[in-house]
Order: sequence, then structure tokens, then C-alpha cells
Amino acid sequence: MPKILPKDSLSQIFKSPIFQSPDEWLAFDKTHLWHPYTSMKDPLPCYPVTGAQGVMLELADGRQLIDGMSSWWSAIHGYGQAALITAAQTQLERMSHVMFGGIAHQPAAELGARLLRLAPDNLEHIFLADSGSISVEVALKMALQFWQSNGEKNKQSFLTVRGGYHGDPFSCMSVGDPENGQHHLFPRAIAQHIFVPRPEIGFYDDWDARDIAPLEAAIKARHQEVAAVIIEPIVQGAGGMRFYHPEYLKAARALCDAYNVLLIFDEIATGFGRTGQMWAMEYAGITPDIFCVGKALTGGMMTLAATMTTRHVAMTISEGAVPELMHGPTFMGNPLACAVASASLDLLTQTGQGALYPQGWQSNIARIERGLQALKPLADHAGVKDVRVLGAIGVVEMNVPVNVAAIQEAFVKAGVWVRPFGRLIYVMPPYIISDKELEVLCGAIVSVV
Ligand SMILES: Cc1ncc(COP(=O)(O)O)c(C=O)c1O
Repeated sequence: MPKILPKDSLSQIFKSPIFQSPDEWLAFDKTHLWHPYTSMKDPLPCYPVTGAQGVMLELADGRQLIDGMSSWWSAIHGYGQAALITAAQTQLERMSHVMFGGIAHQPAAELGARLLRLAPDNLEHIFLADSGSISVEVALKMALQFWQSNGEKNKQSFLTVRGGYHGDPFSCMSVGDPENGQHHLFPRAIAQHIFVPRPEIGFYDDWDARDIAPLEAAIKARHQEVAAVIIEPIVQGAGGMRFYHPEYLKAARALCDAYNVLLIFDEIATGFGRTGQMWAMEYAGITPDIFCVGKALTGGMMTLAATMTTRHVAMTISEGAVPELMHGPTFMGNPLACAVASASLDLLTQTGQGALYPQGWQSNIARIERGLQALKPLADHAGVKDVRVLGAIGVVEMNVPVNVAAIQEAFVKAGVWVRPFGRLIYVMPPYIISDKELEVLCGAIVSVV
């Protein structure tokens, strides 16, 4: 059993804490620490969280909140899973980190082998990156280097759909939605790529081939300059939480093949079962040339991501004038994160007695999908534009942007952790959430809306 430190053990972490109470460190935080997408002058309120166990986040005043967010898609098994803590503690004592340059270690190999078992057969080569955004950066670089090696020096643009999100660094922003990504703020710093309208036909709607026409027209007209199409399969996450039709992806794959363009799938949010398939692309029955995963890879314990690619892409790069893939972050292949990721993948995939998912993770996702239907009656509410559910993702899209501070306060009062953005109130709870907890989560959303 892992050593789980008791509550009064903070002194083991902070030998001489600077702050004596949550109010004190919260005040410091407010004055000095930037939070995601906030102003330093007038930040949105932050809630002091002192612990997390199962599906619960614990606030400093002892209140327990049911986590509807899985810490932004990552904590799929909930918090404090003994198997993950054991893996972390054991690896930590053996070797927390060593450089990956010129050094190999078993945690990376164990993780790599597990990823290859789960990933589509055509993907054989793996770059272990230190965050989702970096895995996207590496994917883009792989595509560019592939064409360089092929002698196609003009292929340096990316083609993508509006409404996408691939991370906040400049390369990722450059292929993210131009409005959400605030391209207008940095016109000279952001590379100019090619955008077509987002897919409009929903996941559950009847397919209409007109949806793919803009992508088709763009590939036909500009394939000589396009290195790759990059897209989030099936679910556009932070760019709008929209679920589009699998036929769109099939058609995109066919177009990329026909016009000699690589296809990059970003499953950093959707991967590891969230949509009801291990990979969202399975709804379309197709595979990419380059594939990014992250977030839930370590079960949300720490940061790690991976970019996978085919033998063809890897060998073409490796036989080019510059055969090295020119990337190598300090924490590449971090052994601690790799060990935890392997333990997390084992938790996800093991079944039977004693397993976290005795009947398989699929049955948990199906159960959560059924439970999330409790949001559906909100569709009749005057302020609601749409309610949609896919796998363990539930979305309530409002007509106008919500007041995040006010609505979050209401959610906390109702005992749940939900973090809306823009017009979207959405949840993707840990796979271990119970029916009762899911009922409370959905009930809170219905009553707050
Ligand atoms: C689809 C997608 N790609 C990339 C990223 C960036 O990942 P990270 O925040 O780990 O850098 C995210 C993060 O939300 C994402 O949802």
C-alpha cells in the first residue's frame, strides 16, 4: 500500500511554511500567481483546494465538491488511486528523472510498448513530450521535416478547421481557432495557416457531403503548400465543445491521401476512452499519419504527452538531409511520469475481479453517458441553445456567455466543481463517478442553469 500522508503532515512537505492559514496563501496567490486565462489585476476568484480523493475535491473549509471536470480531461480515474501513488513513490525513490539524451530507461520502454498496443497498428514511433502542447509542436515539426526530407520545400503550411484548439504556444495557437486564439493580437508573431469553416454536421445528424466541401476546395487549391491537415477527431474541445460527424474525418483522410498531405490527429482531450471509444477516431474507422495524446495519459497525476507516427514518416525524416528530429526537451521521457502513465494505462485496460473497471472502462463510459442524459431537459429552457452528450462528456450551450464567477459560486454552493467558459457549461467527470454522484452533478447543473 502506498504511504498516504495524513492531513497534519503538511510539515513533512513544507518544513517551515511561510503561510499559517489558507487565507494567507490565498491572498499571496491572488496578488502574485497567474492563473489560466486571467488578469493579474482583477482575477476571477479561486477556490482553495487542499485535497482530492476519488471524485471529490476538498476545499480548505472542509467542503467536498464532486469534480465534474477531471482536472481538464486528465484525472480519468479520479484522485488518490493507490496503484498510481505506488508507481509514483516507487519510481521516485529509484530515479525521478534523468536526461533522455543518450540514456534509455525501462519506464519509457514500458510506456512506449503499452502505447503501441493501444494505438492503431500503423503507428510505430513515439516521441515522449512533456505536455500536450509540446506534443502538438512536435507533430507539426515532424510534418514539416517529412516534406523537407522528401524534397518538397514548399509544403510548409497547415490546413485546419475553425473552432479548433491545440494549446497556447505560438505554433499551437497558429492552428487553433483564429478568433479564440486571438490571432489579431499577434499578427506578426503567429504563422499564417489555412482555415476552413468548422464541420457543421453534428455527430448524431444525417451526414451531408456538402460539409466537407470547404476542406476539399482548400486541399485541391493549395495542396502543394500544405504539409498536413491537423484536427481534433470528433470532438472540438476548448474551441466550442462540438461533436461532429465521423464521415467528415473519413472524407478528410481520403482527401489527404489523394492530394499527398499528411493527417495529424490531436486526441489530447479525447483519447483514452472519453468519447466511448479508446480513440475518438475509431468512430470513423481511420488512422492518422501523426497522432498526439496527453492529459489522461498519466491519469492526471502529472504532465506527459506523446506524439506517435508511422514508420513511413519516421524513416523519411531519418533518411533526409537533416536526419535528426530536431526536438529534445529537458524532461523528455521523464521516468516518473512514464512509470505513472504505465500504471494508469494498466488501470484503464485491466478487467475482472479486483480491477478498477471490472467490466471494462467502456461500461463506465456507457453508464456515465446514460446518466448525463439528465441534462437533456435543459434543451427546452429559454436560455439554452443546445444540450449534447457523447460518451462521458456533457455540454450545455447557452445563448449568451455565462458570468463565470457567479455561476461557479452557485456550483460550489451546490457541492460540485464545474468550470464553464464562454457560453459553455460542460462536464467530463472521472470514469469512477458513481450514479448517485452523477445525479447530484447533473442535478446541480439543471438547477443552477
Ligand atoms: C485538443 C487539445 N490539444 C492540445 C492541448 C494542449 O495540451 P496542454 O495543455 O497539456 O499543453 C489541449 C489542452 O486543453 C487540448 O484540449
